[in-house]
Amino acid sequence: MHTKTQESRISLFMPEENAGGRKIRIYFDGQQLTVPEGVSVASALLMSGVRTFRATPVSGSPRAPYCMMGVCFECLVEIDGRPGRQSCLTQVQEGMVIKRQDGASGLNIPSAEG
Ligand code: FES
Repeated sequence: MHTKTQESRISLFMPEENAGGRKIRIYFDGQQLTVPEGVSVASALLMSGVRTFRATPVSGSPRAPYCMMGVCFECLVEIDGRPGRQSCLTQVQEGMVIKRQDGASGLNIPSAEG
């Protein structure tokens, strides 16, 4: 029977010891963050201590990533001006500007009048 020891418990969001690869800069709600290259936006924000990614449209309650695999849609944020992006499925890029999403993202539907 396998029993977990304290040493065998590893956080899902703890960087690996050899993750000394290149770091890049991203911005979340105007704050500069330095994060590992190659991780998802959700992972980068969680590693940086961000715990609220969006607020629900109805009650405004805070939400954060849950599944980390594109199923729950709890991780929606605005990335480089585009709302409703799943941060768990988006890889961080140098200089990426990310904003917390409050409520439903608006649809930009052009009018028939032009
Ligand atoms: S965390 Fe569930 S879809 Fe992104």
